[in-house]
Amino acid sequence: MSNEIPQLSESSTPQEIMKAGLASAQGPVKLACSFSVEDIVIIDMAKELGLPIGIFALDTGRLNEETYEVADAIVERYRLQIDWYFPRHEAVQQLEREKGLFSFRESLANRHECCHIRKVEPLGRALQGLAGWITGLRREQSVTRTSLAPIERDELNNGVLKINPLLEWSEQQVWDYAKEKRLPVNRLHSHGYPSIGCAPCTRAVAPGEHPRAGRWWWENPEQKECGLHKR
Ligand code: ADX
Ligand code: SF4
Repeated sequence: MSNEIPQLSESSTPQEIMKAGLASAQGPVKLACSFSVEDIVIIDMAKELGLPIGIFALDTGRLNEETYEVADAIVERYRLQIDWYFPRHEAVQQLEREKGLFSFRESLANRHECCHIRKVEPLGRALQGLAGWITGLRREQSVTRTSLAPIERDELNNGVLKINPLLEWSEQQVWDYAKEKRLPVNRLHSHGYPSIGCAPCTRAVAPGEHPRAGRWWWENPEQKECGLHKR
């Protein structure tokens, strides 16, 4: 049976979007968690509502130490399990042997190759057997995210439901929620990192710069996607 996309109103809350997505999904649903503040807000909301979602994280092998620290704090606070997925070691070995440790800085094709090996291929494995996945995507984050829907069918991943509960939330709303609930967050946020990905591809931004300016800072804004959210 295929997953139907539920009807939502423009004013649907993140909690309503999550509940509607779970009700429509014909099987298990998991949050894709990068331990961004958005993902932690979603975990908190799901826990508060008692929603039966699992959590998976993609360990690219190049994450910041601070990301593991906040992952550990989340496990401790909510007593939950995180399903970590890793790249295929043969693919990483071959990439690094042939192109070195920083090939992603040399061209867009090389960057996509690294993201494919370290994120996209493991995502495919993480989504196997799922009817839906939840993400922390927000519309205002990027020019590449303006046309997303709160719940859509992910045709590149077997038609699973892709649920984006915080799509319409602003950065301010996310932080207000996180502060009010005193959620553990990545320490890098207080060092000028509004958006955090892999360590060698993320840097701090200057005051007033776009929040994703530090992600793949050598690329144009319309290229700043790793392939997880291709449509
Ligand atoms: S990215 O495509 O530029 O890397 P971004 O960091 O904005 O994505 O994160 C958007 C959402 O993608 C996160 O809220 C999360 O749902 C998912 N995501 C990104 N990176 C990972 C990861 N390493 N593991 C699991 N989910 C991830
Ligand atoms: Fe590789 Fe950088 Fe993509 Fe991480 S963000 S997978 S290090 S290119």
